[in-house]
Amino acid sequence: MTQITHYFGAGPAALPHQVKQKIEKDILEYQNSGISILELSHRSESFSNILDQAKTMLRALYSIPDNYQILFMAGGATLQFDAVPLNLVGQSQHASYLDTGFWSRKAGDLARKYTKVKYVQGLDDTIDKVCCLESGEWQVDNSSAYLHVTPNETINGLEFVSVGDIEVPVVADLTSCMLMQDIDINEFGVLYAATQKSLGIAGLSVVIIRDDLLGPVNDHTPDLLRYDLHAEHNSIVNTTAVFACYVAQLMLEWVIQQGGLKVMVQQAKQRSELLYAAIDDNPKLVNNICKKNRSTINVAFNSADKKVIDQLLKAAEQEGLIGLQGHRYAGGVRASMYNGTPLEAAKKLATLIKAA
Ligand SMILES: Cc1ncc(COP(=O)(O)O)c(C=O)c1O
Repeated sequence: MTQITHYFGAGPAALPHQVKQKIEKDILEYQNSGISILELSHRSESFSNILDQAKTMLRALYSIPDNYQILFMAGGATLQFDAVPLNLVGQSQHASYLDTGFWSRKAGDLARKYTKVKYVQGLDDTIDKVCCLESGEWQVDNSSAYLHVTPNETINGLEFVSVGDIEVPVVADLTSCMLMQDIDINEFGVLYAATQKSLGIAGLSVVIIRDDLLGPVNDHTPDLLRYDLHAEHNSIVNTTAVFACYVAQLMLEWVIQQGGLKVMVQQAKQRSELLYAAIDDNPKLVNNICKKNRSTINVAFNSADKKVIDQLLKAAEQEGLIGLQGHRYAGGVRASMYNGTPLEAAKKLATLIKAA
């Protein structure tokens, strides 16, 4: 029998087996239409149904209120780093970015092309471990157009779930925690996520935006980055990323079949706790995130002895556990466990971590 492979890549990430089986079938012929899903027109009724169903499911999963629009936009999260200031800065002179690590900083650095960026300290520099400041301690300038936050920093595995009560609209990059964190949508003005981690494949972003934040946009904003146009045209501004939208719809369906958001959050907790327990038990390994901010999604760790990491990665590969190499900026090991990662994969990896 061939060995089962478990993929821990940070994105594009593991898709559930049932989703891949459905895709395989629909690539040959989509719903008795005589054509492949790859050939489906973005103007067809079938595609309209895909978008409508995806929106209905996402709205139900996150209890998204009626005064928020759900948009499907081509391009990944980095394109949203441009779209956010282009759509939201308006008459304001600046925007605030909570600095919690690589991705939040990258978002702020790109926004500098369009506005003055004020970084807000998000990490507690008084302790050894990497730890987030509580939202009450964030020094946000209330005349900012918005505050941008990254609730899950994918590279070093740092997470916070609530932003509490902030006076300016809060924009959240959910790229690595969409459908994996039990957040309250009402705390946010805009939420966006590239879909290649827990909502399908690369090439698409989902944006959830409160009505009052739709326009007016910066004059030079390309049409394809305009939230108001996407809202007005049901996300069909040009030839939409049909296949990526279809896979997002399948992922949403699958999440609902599994029991919904609470089950996804619970499973992420279960998988990550297995790994953190194994890391904490092994004196050769270290995770430098304080316990309350340890990501339930991306578990990163390292060792002072490089050989330990090399041997662990080799042993993992022999067991069919792949994609575990840490990010190129961080080194070590990173296990990214999105919704498509079975508990079995985390159990196998935990055993190897204990033995490392
Ligand atoms: C939190 C976060 N934001 C943004 C990005 C960038 O996403 P993209 O490659 O879709 O531009 C990533 C990629 O891993 C991410 O993890």
